Order: sequence, then C-alpha cells, then structure tokens
Amino acid sequence: SQNIYILGIESSCDDTAAAIIHNGKILSNVVANQEIHKDYGGVVPELASRAHQQNIVPVVDQALKKAKIDKDQLNAIAFTRGPGLMGSLLVGTSFAKSLAYGLGIPLIDVNHMQAHILAHFIDEKGFDKPPFPFLAMTISGGHTQIVKVNSYFEMDVIGETIDDAVGEAFDKSGKILGLDYPAGPEIDKRAKLGNPKAFKFTKPKVDGLDFSFSGLKTAILYFIQRETKANSNFIAENLNDICASIQYTIIGILMDKLKLASKQTGINHIAIGGGVSANSGIREALKKGEQKFGWKTYIPKFEFTTDNAAMIAIVGYLKYLEQDFSEQNITASARLKI
Ligand code: KG4
Ligand code: ZN
Repeated sequence: SQNIYILGIESSCDDTAAAIIHNGKILSNVVANQEIHKDYGGVVPELASRAHQQNIVPVVDQALKKAKIDKDQLNAIAFTRGPGLMGSLLVGTSFAKSLAYGLGIPLIDVNHMQAHILAHFIDEKGFDKPPFPFLAMTISGGHTQIVKVNSYFEMDVIGETIDDAVGEAFDKSGKILGLDYPAGPEIDKRAKLGNPKAFKFTKPKVDGLDFSFSGLKTAILYFIQRETKANSNFIAENLNDICASIQYTIIGILMDKLKLASKQTGINHIAIGGGVSANSGIREALKKGEQKFGWKTYIPKFEFTTDNAAMIAIVGYLKYLEQDFSEQNITASARLKI
C-alpha cells in the first residue's frame, strides 16, 4: 500500500493553479484567475507571465494548506511543460524545478493536452473512468482536438483545428456582438433563451476529422455588419437568437466530426475536456448521442475541465507509479505535441 502525495502546478495560459493529489484522489485544487485580461478582450502574454510570478507562491501555499499537508510530505512535483505561452510556462517550470531540487524529490513534466484527457482518471464519486481505447475531444480557448486514447500515455491526435480553437470561435463571435471576454459562458446562457434556427451560418468544409473556425467568425462579422447597417438596433433586438444560432452552428461542427471519428474508429466511448465542455448545448448533444448512436459519454467535474492543476497532479501520479521522472535540465516547450 502506497501513500503518495504529489503537487501539480499549471501555468500554461492565464490561470495560475496548484493541486495536491493523494494516491488518485484530489485533496486540494486552487486556481487564481487573472481578471486583468478582461480589459483587453483576450490574454496578454506579458501580463499573464507577471501575474503568474505574483500568484505562484500564494497559490502553492494555499494548495498545501487546504490539503492539510506540509511540503516535506510531498513525494514529487509535477508541472505543465507545454503547450502554452512561453512566458507563462517558464514561471511554473522554474518554480517546480527549484522546489523539487530544494526538497530533493523527483520532478515530473506533464503535457497540458494529455492532462486535459487524463483528468478523467481522477478518483471522483459519481464520475466513471473511460475504458481504453476511447475518444477524447479537447475543446477550449486554446485547443480543439480529437484524440484516440489507447492507454495513459499512448495517444493519437486524429483531428485538430487548422486555425482557431472552438473557444476562440465563441469568444471572437462574442466580441463582434460586444460581449465581455471570455464570451462563451454568456453566449451559452443567452442561447438557452433564443431560437437556434433563427439565423443560418454555413459550416466550413474541412476534410477528415480536422476543424476550422475562422471562416465562421468572418461569416458572423459580415452578417452583423450587414444587418446593423439596415437596423442599428439589430444586435440588441436579436441577441438571444444570434447567440443560439452561433452556438447551434458550433455544436453542429463539433458533433459532425465526433460522429465521423466514432464511425471511423468504431469506438463508442467518448470523453470531453477543456473549458468549452461546460457548454450546456454540447452536453445535451452528447446525451442525445448516447441514445442515437449508443455512445457512452464522459464529462469530468467542472473544476477539472477548465485549466486546472488537478489534471496535472493526476498525470504526475500516473507517471510517478511508472517512475517516469524528468531531469533537472528540462525546459518549457510552447509547442509541445501529444
Ligand atoms: O479550458 P479553458 O478554461 O482555458 C483554455 O483555453 O485552455 O477554456 C476557456 C474557454 C474560453 O474560450 C471560454 O469562452 C470557453 O472556454 N467557455 C465556454 C463556456 N464556458 C467556458 N464556451 C462555451 N460555453 C460555455 N459554457
Ligand atoms: Zn487547457
């Protein structure tokens, strides 16, 4: 019987996060959001890096306190090596390296995209773990991928976006409509009150399992420009219907590719991760998929879908079991692949 405590650290984008995992169970999961980017309508890399530097010590302290353990009890430190913003990754990477060195314990590097997927293996009441092989669709502000997951560390990316991420499609559409960043949650809320078929946006034609969202953004921009020329109150008068129609189109794009991926691979176990998994429309569409196509779908607990350190800690734990450790000279990698 083991008694493994691991600290996970995540700093790839604009959230500074730390979590403690004891065996497979999360004891604490702390996230400091950076409100500062709201004023700029997107993440400003230099500001993100500076905020990480300010937040990392208090966030790690809080994670230890909430877990009611002392840093001397830690068995290893896991950190996000990439992909992400270099300036942001460097903060977590250097912090993790020095702390592991200071404590004389192993260092474990984690791929952020693998972590979004392996978040499903956190022990959590009421949440099933998907059996291998399964399909994972990671949908967030930074990524959109469909991954065939053969085992914990053997994954094939079988589809991904060729331009914007799906979260960007929500956020950039929201910006056109004058909504605050990030606009995904607001579009979701308004979509529930609107008619999804009020306005029609054509879906992009992309081969195979890849995605494209930049054309949709342009189509929405032209549509709004045209309509507001005819009626300057167009957005205000139709906001819920516009949001519902945009969301309907985006979900249609995701579901088309997911259906194709399931058909091509013959895999019916489908897991999602990333901030956009919070979207009520995508959740509904997946549930429908269970009835229509015999899928079994897996959606992690909300706090484990957006950027968080619990997912880094679970990967740390799985790698710890395999004694898969990193060297002290490891460096952050902004474009790290799965
Ligand atoms: O995973 P996440 O917190 O950060 C990364 O981008 O890695 O995802 C943030 C993204 C944003 O684009 C945000 O607009 C989107 O997730 N999002 C949503 C919803 N909640 C968050 N998009 C649609 N519907 C939501 N309910
Ligand atoms: Zn992420």
